[in-house]
Amino acid sequence: MKAVMRRFSNQFVTRWWLLGFCLLFQGTAFAGEAVSLLPAPLHMQYLEGVFVIPQTTRISIPDEKEFKTSAKWLLGLISQHSGREVHVSTGAVEPTAIRVERVPKSELEAQFEKAGLTPMTGFDEAYSLQIGSSGVLIQAAEDAGLYYGLTTLWQLLSQRSAPSNKLPALKILDAPEFEWRGLMLDSARHMQSTEFIKQYIDWMSLHKLNVFHWHLTDDQAWRLEIKAYPKLTEVGGYRVPAGAAPAADIDPATGEARLYGGFYSQDEVRDIVAHAASRQVTMVPEIDVPGHASAAIVAYPELGVPGFQLEKVPASWGIYHNVFNLEESTFEFLETVMGEVVALFPGEFIHLGGDEVVTEQWEASERIAERMKELGMDSYQALQNYYVERLQAYLSPHGRRVIGWDEILESSLPAEAVVMSWRGVEGAIEAAAKGHQAVLSPAPTLYLDHIQTSAADEPPGRMDIITIRDIYEFNPLPESLGENRNLLLGLQGNLWTEHVRFEERVAYMTWPRATAIAEIGWSVPERRNWGDFSSRLETHRLRLDDLGIAAAKAVEAGPVTDAEHYSRREDRELELCQSSIALALEDDAPISGERESFLLDIMNPCWIWRDADLSEAHSFSAVVGQLPFNFEIGDMIRDVVVNPPNTPEGELTVRMGDCDGPVIAELPLAPAVDNQAVTELPATGLNLPGEPTPRADLCISFNRIGIEPIWGIDWVQINRAGTREVNE
Ligand code: ACM
Repeated sequence: MKAVMRRFSNQFVTRWWLLGFCLLFQGTAFAGEAVSLLPAPLHMQYLEGVFVIPQTTRISIPDEKEFKTSAKWLLGLISQHSGREVHVSTGAVEPTAIRVERVPKSELEAQFEKAGLTPMTGFDEAYSLQIGSSGVLIQAAEDAGLYYGLTTLWQLLSQRSAPSNKLPALKILDAPEFEWRGLMLDSARHMQSTEFIKQYIDWMSLHKLNVFHWHLTDDQAWRLEIKAYPKLTEVGGYRVPAGAAPAADIDPATGEARLYGGFYSQDEVRDIVAHAASRQVTMVPEIDVPGHASAAIVAYPELGVPGFQLEKVPASWGIYHNVFNLEESTFEFLETVMGEVVALFPGEFIHLGGDEVVTEQWEASERIAERMKELGMDSYQALQNYYVERLQAYLSPHGRRVIGWDEILESSLPAEAVVMSWRGVEGAIEAAAKGHQAVLSPAPTLYLDHIQTSAADEPPGRMDIITIRDIYEFNPLPESLGENRNLLLGLQGNLWTEHVRFEERVAYMTWPRATAIAEIGWSVPERRNWGDFSSRLETHRLRLDDLGIAAAKAVEAGPVTDAEHYSRREDRELELCQSSIALALEDDAPISGERESFLLDIMNPCWIWRDADLSEAHSFSAVVGQLPFNFEIGDMIRDVVVNPPNTPEGELTVRMGDCDGPVIAELPLAPAVDNQAVTELPATGLNLPGEPTPRADLCISFNRIGIEPIWGIDWVQINRAGTREVNE
């Protein structure tokens, strides 16, 4: 009932853009309910008439076991979201109103040709969908096309702008612009359940996203069960999270700090891979070599560079210096791992990572120098290249190809290697110029760990804000690619999870931004238009709700909202003094329940309160919290701003004008040092300069003994004469 009400009330909201949408597509503008599809199809033409869907209807699908599994799921969704009862009928004895048919590729091609269309990616994922007054016909040559035809039917029947018992007569001819339309999920930094991963894959497939890149190993965890090396997960799958609060959280079973972690068993992986196949999603596992390898080295110390052994799986974020060594036994280890990976993941690509490799340990090791000499290598690039070559050589007989982050381009690569461009789009351009295929996933635009709105309750993540519009306006076809367009496989959004602890937040960070990735990956440039997309997104949000996706609500970053309390500012209402490594970070305490999040730059935790009203101001209050400095930032550590304290525990200081201005308040941190959660510091009198200063900028920072801990602000407040100093 609720859904029906919503459907009708939403009609008014959506009417305005329907006209624009109709104009986008050729043919008769249908006088009734226009359709709202996401991603926009290649070609859509309205025809005369409507199809009135009976309350109970039957649909015929190809009588093929594998396809039936996917079709049944989609038909279940259609029934659930359209209020119609749709029953499957295979090997149809009598005519059905809705038919899904496999046709020869040549027949599909002829339909496209007749409409003057040549899909960039051929016909594997293409489909045609026709609606006439007597029913619906979906045709495709391959499973993917049949599946996408049905997802479009689901969208037609679940859009809330129209009563769903009528569909306008129309013809859709559809196929993707790019063959790689991916999302990467980091299950190493924080882990998600197998049920959630399967759901994530479902959601992707309903948006015609078709590659799930699964980041399974990193410094902070190894999550994939490898039978030959059980300690990879038994040891490498667990860590004590950073910070004083987790260190004090004793597990009664062991008497030691509670471990965070887990791993995916091979049975679970097989289940996920089969599930993905039924959703037309290819899994690309990532085993990161030779860097981001700390967890593996903790499990099997013989894999590391001698002299740099590790005792525990580390819990800081950033770039560790731990790398694999060059022993033949290490390559045998990696080949054994790859053997099990290949048996689990049937897709063509295996991701080898290859990003952010620090050569410091190699440079310091005589044994590495000796091995480099034996192997005839004269540079660390050549060394890194050796991993890629060795593993490609191992994978080739299995019919597999390696893909890696764009650092792998810094040395020569096997011809079949694919480059994933993350440090801008240049990696893809350079790779293509060298004849390699490439995928675009540049930071920060396609990095879904960036926060997406300025809302006060935005969950933690990296600054700067990346809105869905930023993603939508990303050009997936850089001009400098020139004639190498055919080497660009597509694009991908990446969700790193350092700051994304829960599944609900994984969903929030991904959706609705992934709808923009879906559209720029699927739809032709001529179909892409922000105004039109954002209108369709309004309709689509109701589908996201129906699917139970906890998507972010706001679309635009918008101006920072006016502070509700004229004399109080939350951290998000202040400016950062600098933005070097700006993060919205979550507190490490309390262990269970809601944690405060702090917006700060870890290089310089310092904030500006612009144009603060100082009239009648007499004291200053603050609520602060402390966070572990759990970041591996290499030499940059020397540039972290640490202002020396005046008291043993340090102080929060307020300066007037700018950060070199006179100190007008100093609030000792002593009351907060033993509290791992947030603390309200006692109000401290303001020491304003002689002449009256009704308004001024304030610079708020901390004096502290060292980089540990980082202090953050929950809120700060100017108290006036006659007002209460401490607010509820
Ligand atoms: C990456 O973000 N280090 C690929």
